Amino acid sequence: MTEKQQYWILETKHCGYAFGLNKNGILVNTYWGKRMESQSDYPAPPESDGWASFNGPTQVLQEEYPAYGGMCFHEPCLKATFEEGVRDVVLQFESETTINNELVINLRDIHYPLKVSLHYRSHTDFDLIERWVEVENFGKETITLERVFSAIWHFPVGGEYFLSHLTGRWNDEFNLVREPLTPGVKVLESRRITSSHHHNPWFLVDDGNCTEDNGKVWFGALSWSGNWKATAEVTNFYTTRLGIGINDWDFVWQLREGEIFSSPHAICGFSDKGYGEASRLLHNFIRDELVPHNKQVHKVLYNSWEATFFDVNEPSQAKLAKIAAEIGVELFVVDDGWFHRRNNDKAGLGDWWPDSEKFPHGLTPLIEKVNRLNMDFGLWIEPEMVNPDSDLYREHPDWILHYPTRQPTLARNQMILNMARPDVQEYIFSKIDRLLTENNIAFIKWDMNRNVSEPGWPTAPGDQREIWVRYVEGLYKVWGDLRKQHPGVIWQSCSGGGGRADLGILKFADQIWVSDNTFALDRLRIQHGFSQIFPAVTMESWVTDADRGKIPLEFRFHVSMCGSLGVGGNLLLWDKAEIMESTYWISHYKKHRQVIQFGDQYRLSKKSMQYMSKDAEKGVLFVFQTESNLNNSPITIHLRGLNPELKYKVEGLQEILTGAEWMSRELSYPFKLYESAMLEISAY
Ligand code: GLA
Repeated sequence: MTEKQQYWILETKHCGYAFGLNKNGILVNTYWGKRMESQSDYPAPPESDGWASFNGPTQVLQEEYPAYGGMCFHEPCLKATFEEGVRDVVLQFESETTINNELVINLRDIHYPLKVSLHYRSHTDFDLIERWVEVENFGKETITLERVFSAIWHFPVGGEYFLSHLTGRWNDEFNLVREPLTPGVKVLESRRITSSHHHNPWFLVDDGNCTEDNGKVWFGALSWSGNWKATAEVTNFYTTRLGIGINDWDFVWQLREGEIFSSPHAICGFSDKGYGEASRLLHNFIRDELVPHNKQVHKVLYNSWEATFFDVNEPSQAKLAKIAAEIGVELFVVDDGWFHRRNNDKAGLGDWWPDSEKFPHGLTPLIEKVNRLNMDFGLWIEPEMVNPDSDLYREHPDWILHYPTRQPTLARNQMILNMARPDVQEYIFSKIDRLLTENNIAFIKWDMNRNVSEPGWPTAPGDQREIWVRYVEGLYKVWGDLRKQHPGVIWQSCSGGGGRADLGILKFADQIWVSDNTFALDRLRIQHGFSQIFPAVTMESWVTDADRGKIPLEFRFHVSMCGSLGVGGNLLLWDKAEIMESTYWISHYKKHRQVIQFGDQYRLSKKSMQYMSKDAEKGVLFVFQTESNLNNSPITIHLRGLNPELKYKVEGLQEILTGAEWMSRELSYPFKLYESAMLEISAY
């Protein structure tokens, strides 16, 4: 606490965040932005609480964690029902604790036994603040929670703001949208049981003067892989706020005596250096703090899905593996089709053991072949799913999400197992644990290939609507237990591509299969959106046959080299020239992947991406011509992220110039459609 009474300031390297109690004891946010020179510069909470007889404190003040109670007509963070049907929460400050970089503000209802703890963790070096809440029932009667957001943020009063977010659908994820916020509420959400292809739990707000390199941006993301909701609201007093948390749609949580409900964590940051810096701050945090194997270089992988689809067996995979090894692949991944009676998408999901016809001696002979070729072995699974035609479903038809009076809707011929059930969790754990114990498997692609329907849980111990949260908790438990048991395994998260790409899943998975769409031009756009949040190391990208014969292999490699490189084409069809060229690009990628996977990323334009090592000694520049160039106008860019004093050489150009000189010089690439380049930048 500072000198101002009951006032708190959180500071990171460049960012300040402050709130305090006003004279009537309401907790009010007073500042979020550039770090102030002195702590005494942060503004004090305003005096007034309400306005005329039509607007209570929630409308007028920038409440730090508004609850639905009193005269609250805007989006609250918390809504609860107490015994006797009282739906009115009145929170009062009780106490604070600070341990290291974590501040906890404890609030309490003035009458009912409800405690709400607001948690703040400052990540000083990452320049980010993490927030979450815990809600405790310390009485005897059950309290019904109907909304528990992780956080709300207020933007400086008087500004007019723009919201950037990512939207899409299967095969077309991560489209970046920027729109003005006007009076009312803009809702982004998922009701699909995953974080979803539709929207991503991430936002960026700017005040209208923002570019890739300059301007104020306020941004955040929710670490949650299930239903979520963000409400961006411009109030009738023209103030702007944005709340995020578990979706309250169809949500109810019975908080019984002594229980605590913990919200997912949200992470937020501010920068005055535009979109680019906001992304780099998140990239650093995700790469260095969140993902499990944060120091490990990702291997070049081959995935046989698009080559063999369900026609998987030892000889077909062994043939592909041989060529994969020749071109320099380091990890060979067998996708869907390897397990019990899986010959198409109509059967097998749930029966997680090798098919005895395709693999009469199990997976080991193939794995040994792959290992002898000096490659690791990886496998695809989709553990949350079951086909009606499977041993598992025949034995446990009641394990799926369902209502007994309704026919379960099939999607891709499959149904969703109820991950909230301990018996389902145990089954999945035991089957995957066995696979990993009996086989030398270094990598698992964990897929989830449909969205929810009939979210029923007839035997739920409490309200069935708790399924939305308990499903995700069950998923995290199984995945977490498997990770603990097999700490060396690298996991990839996939949900029909990028349907479950969020900060929650990245605590378990090291990388994400970004999209099933592998057309190079689409990929560039999808990767541009993905890079707003996620670092290149998490971005798995394959060269496939999607554009074979239409777009040069070099261009397709360059697109995939912008992330964690993989190959997914049918290598048996590739001719000698394609094999030789692939070998070249894979070895070239290996030389530069340290910079790509662990460096700073600069989106120079939609046609150009640059990566610089953290010490700014080495860099890689990618340039892509994605349009037919009728006017013959070249692609023009300015390099970024160089050390102004150091001298550099840029591949293809003769001069040796200082970083400052290069960054102020316009580079020009007069490329024709589908021409591309990967150019080395090196300190001289
Ligand atoms: C999903 C994935 C694909 C592939 C198939 C297998 O669509 O996104 O990469 O694994 O499932 O069925």
